[in-house]
Amino acid sequence: MKQKFTLLLLSFCTTLFFGQGKMPIIISTNNTALVYTLNHKKQLTQLYFGKALQNANEYNLKSPNNLPAIITAGAGPVREPAFGVTHADHNPSLELVYVNHQTTQNGDIQETKIELKDPAYPFYITLYFKAYQKENVIEQWAVVKHQEKAAVTLNHFASAFLQLTANQYYLTHFFGDWANEMRIEETKLPEGIHSIQSKLGTRATNFDNPSFMLSVDQPASENSGEVLAGTLAWSGNFNLDFENIQYSEDFGNLLQVLPSINNYDSDYVLKPNTEFKTPTFIYTLSYKGKGQASRNLHHWAINYGVYHGQNHKRTLLNNWEATQFNFDEQKLTHLIENAHEIGVDVFLLDDGWFGNKYPRNSDNAGLGDWEPNKKKLPDGLPFLVDQAKKNKVMFGIWVEPEMVNPKSELYEKHPDWVLKLPNRETDLRRSQLVLDLTNPKVQDYVFGVVDKILTQNPGIGYIKWDCNRYMTNPYSPYLKDKQSNLFIDYTLGLYSVLNKLRQKHPNIELMWCSGGGGRAEYGGLKYADEFWPSDNTDPLQRIYIQYGYSYFFPMSIQAAHVTNWGNQPLKFKIDVAMAGKLGFDIQIDEMKPEEKELAKTAVQNYKRLETVINEGSLYRLKAPYNSHNASWMIVSPNQDKAIFYAYNLNVLFGDVFEPIKFQGLDSKKRYRLTEINLMQNQKPQVPQNNQTFSGDYLMKIGIPWYLNGSIKSSILELNAIN
Ligand code: DGJ
Repeated sequence: MKQKFTLLLLSFCTTLFFGQGKMPIIISTNNTALVYTLNHKKQLTQLYFGKALQNANEYNLKSPNNLPAIITAGAGPVREPAFGVTHADHNPSLELVYVNHQTTQNGDIQETKIELKDPAYPFYITLYFKAYQKENVIEQWAVVKHQEKAAVTLNHFASAFLQLTANQYYLTHFFGDWANEMRIEETKLPEGIHSIQSKLGTRATNFDNPSFMLSVDQPASENSGEVLAGTLAWSGNFNLDFENIQYSEDFGNLLQVLPSINNYDSDYVLKPNTEFKTPTFIYTLSYKGKGQASRNLHHWAINYGVYHGQNHKRTLLNNWEATQFNFDEQKLTHLIENAHEIGVDVFLLDDGWFGNKYPRNSDNAGLGDWEPNKKKLPDGLPFLVDQAKKNKVMFGIWVEPEMVNPKSELYEKHPDWVLKLPNRETDLRRSQLVLDLTNPKVQDYVFGVVDKILTQNPGIGYIKWDCNRYMTNPYSPYLKDKQSNLFIDYTLGLYSVLNKLRQKHPNIELMWCSGGGGRAEYGGLKYADEFWPSDNTDPLQRIYIQYGYSYFFPMSIQAAHVTNWGNQPLKFKIDVAMAGKLGFDIQIDEMKPEEKELAKTAVQNYKRLETVINEGSLYRLKAPYNSHNASWMIVSPNQDKAIFYAYNLNVLFGDVFEPIKFQGLDSKKRYRLTEINLMQNQKPQVPQNNQTFSGDYLMKIGIPWYLNGSIKSSILELNAIN
């Protein structure tokens, strides 16, 4: 009887609020649906979030739970609010009711827009959703605007608000520090609010990444369990709130997930008739564990999330680890020749090429003065670009245009262009200050720096955009009485520069870097082709770091360089770098002839396989955390090719290594196994080299683990044969 009544009530709402035949609002990918309906107050309620039904009409059959989907501050249930505002008349409360919605299909993407309004104020929030059908990923954000008589102050501005019900929740989060990024920790969520935050302003992902995986009732494994994986596309302060509260005996606990710009010191003053757009929150539900969640996100990233995600991935030689600040034209010319010799696509000139009054010979001077240093580079950039052209490599260059050393001409000229607190001692980090990107003049300057380099040197095709300090001294001379807009407006200012840059220089390849992995997030990757995961390139450490990032970011966009960090054999270093976007940052001349040959072979192999690495599906087979070996594989979309990576890290007495069972292959196809990246005269390590097996055999029985001894690595290429 009770259920009948609920159904009746539900259909009444349908007709009243959404119009005949249009109810409820279904945001759906091929296998996941987020469904909204309304309660009697015309507030949005989340009817369902889970596996998509085959027949969309059947969502109507579910009894509504009447829980408002969006908690607003000052009105309604007292839980962590998704949105909050102090209106122009100082009323600190917000109510939101449904106005209308619209759903359109645009190729693979279902787009939904839901308009909400405060019934008592001309204050509007529009929710946007993009549901990527094939990838099973949803992207969600909100736009706030108003026509009140004066500015309002926004104090909560979540990008999404998902509600789950279960008995227990397990949260996997990713944290670390410089040179130790993306460590993994899984914890059972206690009751109350748990937050993953950054307050760093710039290089915001230095300690925590704005990404998580969440499983219900029990920890998910790689291949089983229901997992919600999400990541916030924002380069500034973020806050992922998980509010876990007792709900009812029937449903267990209610978990509210609120990914958001961090509102720490950020009450945002919004003038009438202007828009505030939250960053997008990207999420996926996997019913086959964390592995599938990662694959969904990777496919989304390559198809939509990363700038030119589908483009050819260029290999490169960088000079940072090889020379630091100590170089001249001759040294660089030689390195460019080295780049040609080992066959990479790009030579990347790093920090130290600029500054004259204050030469950039260390990190304590010159930042901000983007003129080539006349002593090191008497013929300027054109000479080097020309050398690169002669050697058939593309020229790339490092910039850090958001920052300035006090020892610079820029600072002397524009001391008011930096973030600096009045009446306080200025806090320097890496001897530098942050430019005030809230100021449109500074934005123009920053754009101008990069634009000038690219316009004057059309041969430059690659930029490494660095950012080497987090924000302290949080005061903008430009914002005057609106200081609480600083953190948000800084990031918006940065995006405005990057937008302009992309409009004028759409084809430049851009590496998003921040003193290591301080900007590993999809906000910047909208403009960047790849990111620098960590300054730590010791392969024994890098394995963990790249493995951690692989939960959210495709391997192909993780720049991975072979350097002098670590004293492992070159083969081991190359095999670790080859799992990401292969590059070198090492004195090629110091390599033994056989090592140089290996480097050349690896580059050729990479070029042949880079589409598989970029477009393929990643299967994590063995985590470096659980034992002393690690392995994963990437399978091409048509399952004709796969690359298998194996590493023995630090073998201890008594270690027993399980056989390798491959994943993701076509069980009906036969595959030839070929070991690649071998040193000249090195015998294949895998006993099954050149043998063929069915995908079925490889996935069910597999091959015995074959790497014996510490610091051993092997890469196998699997090719389907006719
Ligand atoms: C930090 C980066 O992570 C390094 O790769 C290098 O570019 C230095 N900055 C240069 O200052």
